[in-house]
Amino acid sequence: MDKLIVALDVETGADALQLAADLRGVSGGVKVGSRLFTLEGPALVRRLVDAGHRVFLDLKFHDIPNTVAQAVAAAVQTGAWMIDVHASGGTAMMQAAARAGHEAAARRGVPPPLLVAVTVLTSIDRETLSGLGVHRPVLDHVVALAQLTRDAGLDGVVASPHETTAIRRAFGDEFTIVTPGIRGGPAGVPGDDQARTMGAGETVRAGASYIVVGRPIITAPDPRAAAQAIAWEMAVA
Ligand code: C5P
Repeated sequence: MDKLIVALDVETGADALQLAADLRGVSGGVKVGSRLFTLEGPALVRRLVDAGHRVFLDLKFHDIPNTVAQAVAAAVQTGAWMIDVHASGGTAMMQAAARAGHEAAARRGVPPPLLVAVTVLTSIDRETLSGLGVHRPVLDHVVALAQLTRDAGLDGVVASPHETTAIRRAFGDEFTIVTPGIRGGPAGVPGDDQARTMGAGETVRAGASYIVVGRPIITAPDPRAAAQAIAWEMAVA
C-alpha cells in the first residue's frame, strides 16, 4: 500500500481532496501534476499535506540550473514529500536541484524531499525518441540518464515498468524507482496515450519502489475498490 501513489489527475481541488480522502489507507501517497497545480496552486498541496497525505509534486522541472534550484526550494515550502525534474536538463541542473532541496529542507527543519528525475516519459517510444534525434534504443537512453541522475546525487528516477529491472540491476537497492504507465485489470483506459505499460504486480516484482496510477483508478466506477485491487496485486507480488 505504501508503494501505491495515486495521480490526482482531476479537474478541481475539491475533487482532489475528496479522492485523496476516499483513498485513505489504500494509497501510500498522492500525486499533484501540472493541471491541478496550475488550477489550484500550492494551497492545494498544503491542504493535502495538512490532511496527512504524502504528496508527490510532479511538475517535472526542466530549466536552467538556477531556476530549477529556486523551483525545488519553493516546492519544499509546500511540504511536498517527493519532487521531480527532467534528467535531460543535465548534470548541473540536477546537482543544483539536489543542493536546493537539501538546503530548503534544512531551513524548514524537515527531512529533505525525495528528489527523482524523469528519464524518458512513458508515452515515448523508440520512434518518438528517434524523432527527437536520439537514435539509441529507449532502454540504453533511460539507463544513461539514470546514471547521470545518480551521479548528480538525486534519490532516483521516474521510468517505465519496462526499464525497471535494468535500472534496479544497474543501480542497486538504494536507488528509488518510480513507475507510471501501470495498466491491466478489468478496465482499459479509452484513448490511452501511454506506450510502455505493465501490470502493477509485475512492476513491483521488477523492482519498482513506487508505482503511480491515474486513470485506471480515477475513471473506475469505484476508485477505492480499483485502488484496493491494485494494492492487493502489489502485495501478493
Ligand atoms: O492515468 P495514468 O495512469 O496514465 O497516469 C500516469 C500519471 O503519471 C500521469 O499523471 C502522468 O502525468 C504521470 N507520469 C507519467 N510518465 C512519467 C512521469 C509522470 O505518466 N514519466
